[in-house]
Amino acid sequence: MNAKTLLSLAKKHGTPLFVVDHAELRKNYALFRKHFPRVQIYYAVKVNSDPAIVKTFYELGGSFDVASMQEFHTVYENIKGLPAKARQDFIWDKIIYANPIKPVETLEELDRYKPLVTYDNHEEVKKIARHAPHAGLALRLRVPNTGSMVELSSKFGALPGEAVDLITFAHEQGLVVEGLSFHVGSQCTNPQNFIQAIHLCASVFAEAKSRGFNLKLLDIGGGFPAAYDATVPKFSALAKKINHELDRLFPPEIEILAEPGRFLVASAGNAVSKIIGKAIRNEKMSYYVDDGVYHTYSGVIFDHCTYHLNSFKKGPTQICAVFGPTCDALDTISLAEQLPELEIGDYLYSENIGAYSAASSTHFNGFPPAKVIHVNA
Ligand SMILES: Cc1ncc(COP(=O)(O)O)c(C=O)c1O
Repeated sequence: MNAKTLLSLAKKHGTPLFVVDHAELRKNYALFRKHFPRVQIYYAVKVNSDPAIVKTFYELGGSFDVASMQEFHTVYENIKGLPAKARQDFIWDKIIYANPIKPVETLEELDRYKPLVTYDNHEEVKKIARHAPHAGLALRLRVPNTGSMVELSSKFGALPGEAVDLITFAHEQGLVVEGLSFHVGSQCTNPQNFIQAIHLCASVFAEAKSRGFNLKLLDIGGGFPAAYDATVPKFSALAKKINHELDRLFPPEIEILAEPGRFLVASAGNAVSKIIGKAIRNEKMSYYVDDGVYHTYSGVIFDHCTYHLNSFKKGPTQICAVFGPTCDALDTISLAEQLPELEIGDYLYSENIGAYSAASSTHFNGFPPAKVIHVNA
């Protein structure tokens, strides 16, 4: 989004402001489709669960990865008016409940919707068999997350060696395993993670077949990197490598799904904050703004992400610190930003802040989350 528009929106609506550009959402969705023509796109709602964003992807024909009942209902809002059969088809064909660990209460609520859910251990199979026997299953495999900005393999995923036993066990409990899923870690800039994961899945497909289980789908998860800076490999090159392995190892009748989140929304989000204080700390100019790591910049903590702060004013720059508004010293957005001399009341902005930002904003210290504005919706 251009800086001039952001500044005028901030002046009009006040700060802190979070601006979502839906033209950018549509552009990213189209880019993903173009480079992965064989892959069904399940937007990972957790990345930014704003209903307007979900609606835009719904209108584009998107599918959804949900990981809580609240996310499920956010998607469901869009289909609640459909005839019962069309609604049920949508849930089965276009929603995956991709949280391998689900509370019993969630399973009981989910059962009547007959969704596809992921699992990765024996206890979960027993729970699903008892509380959501109508669900279809996708087994989540543990795959290398080497070099990804956010590592997920320490928390989720069955070892490839136990995969077929887990499929057999689900079958013995009266459940049907439709296929496999994995996640290479978020902001994955190492294509080898995808390649190795696809190879692991191909060998599990083959072993499962030899034991009488015909798997039908492969969910290659999220992890597709947003172009935060020039070091991020080109999306087209990554897609080419992944598609090559998918086409080589999985015949066309195998359905391929992906759960991109960051890739679809990161570049669509912009944050504008206002300078509310300034001081020299440790001989460095320090600006205090009305947004911080407990709010839109929460990705600094939870997402291990860094965001650049830009000024709308020009002039000679110096290294500055930028702090959030709360009383916690952890509320530090950056200790090294090149910024010009600015005054209280001036504005700063960050681009590429659409993913894992507003989604994990809090009310800490009595400061509410930033106001959200949708443009080109
Ligand atoms: C199961 C699952 N799918 C998809 C995603 C989205 O990943 P990304 O934003 O890296 O595309 C996540 C993120 O944590 C996830 O846990």
